[in-house]
Amino acid sequence: TKTLKQLAKPTGVRVGTAIDTSALASDATYSTAAAAQFDSVTPENVMKWEVVEPERGRFDFTEADKLVAYAKAHKQKVRGHTLVWHSQLPAWLTSGVEDGSIDKKALKKILKQHIATEMGHFKGDIWAWDVVNEAFNEDGTLRDSLWLQQLGPDYIADAFRWAHKADPKAILFYNDYNTEGINAKSDAAYKLIKELRSEGVPVQGFGVQGHLSTDYGLPNDMQANFHRFAKVGLKTAVTEADVRITLPASPAEVQAQDNGYSYMLQSCLLERSCISFTVWGFTDKYSWIPGVFPGEGQANLYDEDYQPKSAYAAVQRDLQLA
Ligand code: G3I
Repeated sequence: TKTLKQLAKPTGVRVGTAIDTSALASDATYSTAAAAQFDSVTPENVMKWEVVEPERGRFDFTEADKLVAYAKAHKQKVRGHTLVWHSQLPAWLTSGVEDGSIDKKALKKILKQHIATEMGHFKGDIWAWDVVNEAFNEDGTLRDSLWLQQLGPDYIADAFRWAHKADPKAILFYNDYNTEGINAKSDAAYKLIKELRSEGVPVQGFGVQGHLSTDYGLPNDMQANFHRFAKVGLKTAVTEADVRITLPASPAEVQAQDNGYSYMLQSCLLERSCISFTVWGFTDKYSWIPGVFPGEGQANLYDEDYQPKSAYAAVQRDLQLA
């Protein structure tokens, strides 16, 4: 039987996974399966700012370099994740802003330098970058992050301009969660991105994370949502798909999980602008879910023993039919 990446090949959509680099190093089953099944990889944590610049001016790309080498060895694309986010910032940066030793002017320079240094380091090796991540609240207002507070709303346009300079060939994404369907949050992202595009700002992709739960219904109109971004010139992608269940999972919840994966994948496969479908980890063995949502889990395509679940079969079927 064919692997997911073999089935995906004729569709033109890359099928990807987030990679936990410590599992990659310690667990041969994990690294073999990731290479066999996926043709795109995203570092789950190791390209984030707190990892790559743990002390001011001291860069550490060791783990991220290993991931890039692994991807090269297996002919996989790399999605860079993520440059401008409110979370997983280095302590020197957040405390510097708090105690005033990093003022607004200095912070703007630091952000510009961060984008130039990190993207410069990986120049040519990254297919698509999540340049700005999670900048909106659910009601469509901008998130009150350190970036908004210190730099104002222009930080978003600036980030994309600096990013395009640093690696002109990488596809530059805006990425967010709860934006799969048409709602206040995706409306706001759409409005901003359309505006930015009309001003010539190089934002080139709209990524929906795809963190679903069987406790909630499926998002509405995902394909139409992708399509409106396509009409203003963007590529689209599902960047972090998983579908968590409140445990123990009933057969109905397992079925709903399969539907969740299938809905997101089909929305991507049916929309020409969609270039990749990435799952946020492929095995329940290393999922971030139980740590953040206690009592929930079993969100991935494989169980903890690397047995493919019915969600895997759903993904397989959808790729085959596409
Ligand atoms: O590396 C340290 C380790 O040294 C330490 O001993 C351990 C103790 O807690 O923590 C380790 O860091 C953890 C890190 O994952 C690496 O495992 C952090 O505590 C933990 O908070 C961090 O969680 C990550 C989370 O982002 C942080 O916000 C998850 O793995 C990662 O899956 C998750 O990914 C995000 C995307 O980047 C953006 N979209 C949402 C998605 C899910 O939250």
